[in-house]
Amino acid sequence: MKKKGLFLPFAGILFLFAALLSSCGSNPESAESTATESETVEPPVMITSQAYGQLEDGRTVDQYQLKNANGMAVEVITYGGIITSWTAPDRTGAYENVVLGYDSLSQYLANNPYFGAIIGRYGNRIAKGQFVLEGTTYELATNDGPNHLHGGLKGFDKVLWSADTATTAEGASLILRYESADMEEGYPGNLSVQVTYTLTPDDALQVDYEATTDKATIVNLTQHSYFNLSGDFSQTILDHELMIAADQYLPVDATLIPTGELAPVEGTPFDFREAKAVGRDIGADHPQLELGKGYDHCWVLNEQGSMRRVASAYHPGTGRQLEVFTDKPGIQFYSGNFLDGTLPMPGGGTYGHRTGFCLETQHYPDSPNQKDFPSVVLRPGETYETRTTFKFSTK
Ligand code: GLA
Repeated sequence: MKKKGLFLPFAGILFLFAALLSSCGSNPESAESTATESETVEPPVMITSQAYGQLEDGRTVDQYQLKNANGMAVEVITYGGIITSWTAPDRTGAYENVVLGYDSLSQYLANNPYFGAIIGRYGNRIAKGQFVLEGTTYELATNDGPNHLHGGLKGFDKVLWSADTATTAEGASLILRYESADMEEGYPGNLSVQVTYTLTPDDALQVDYEATTDKATIVNLTQHSYFNLSGDFSQTILDHELMIAADQYLPVDATLIPTGELAPVEGTPFDFREAKAVGRDIGADHPQLELGKGYDHCWVLNEQGSMRRVASAYHPGTGRQLEVFTDKPGIQFYSGNFLDGTLPMPGGGTYGHRTGFCLETQHYPDSPNQKDFPSVVLRPGETYETRTTFKFSTK
């Protein structure tokens, strides 16, 4: 396979050596300046790319790898902006893939439950696929029972994105762009979308979303990686200890549309303010857990309107910890309830029930139809701009 990027192992070794010599070798910033002073030009995070496969219409899908000096590697394909693999350290320092995915493009094309994908224009559900904006009623596909889910029949998870790369002191970025045409999937306005994945030297992946439109529209972009911090996808995620910084969550109806109530988590299985095992209360007798077939709800994050730490997940067996930071108002915690042992796992076997979880930072589901929820409307002249950061560490 064709390598387009440059990965110079010798220069990489020099860089590592320089970092070790530095008295603060564990500080990526000082490691980087040491490398610069000694004229070792390797950036702290490298990007390479290769062809990954071909779509039916002949267009090529590329795969990019962002890799830092610690050994964290994030692989992204231009189809759907899908993160196909993402390695994270355990407490012994061993980097292992912690996201569910497939090992070929044909599997992503055939049946992907949004593994690793960028979701848009509207992440989550819109009741009956309908909304009214500036007096016009718009009709979207109903691809989830009576409702619209994750952008429709061909959402942003199923389109080919164009790619650019950039390397800065902050890390290395993969910049994905997509021009969504007026009325694509029923949404008004030509929408220019940009999603930038930046891997930093300290094992964080920043996801920056940007969009502009030429006509009033609605936007709610998110990232749909399924994590299993054990690195062993034959294990469930029920032993992961989860924290969600939210005093309230959004109860749903039988079709998973919020009822409009902001309910307190206190005294319910939805209370993750203190970290607890996902499996501790998932089987509790609670009507909302029945409706969601487990957790599949949006939490109303505390400290609205600021960039803050909103969630963490810890796997006691390996010591891996994931922290999520965002400026968004909500987070959908989905406990992999629809994984049912039918989708193939790379290397053999299938993904079993609850072997992955998602933490989808977003606006509240069905916001276009719920007047008390924060607005998701984007107008010409405005820029939709939001950031979510996923940071790995061990403890
Ligand atoms: C989201 C939804 C879930 C499910 C998954 C994909 O998390 O909330 O109900 O559709 O995506 O299977």
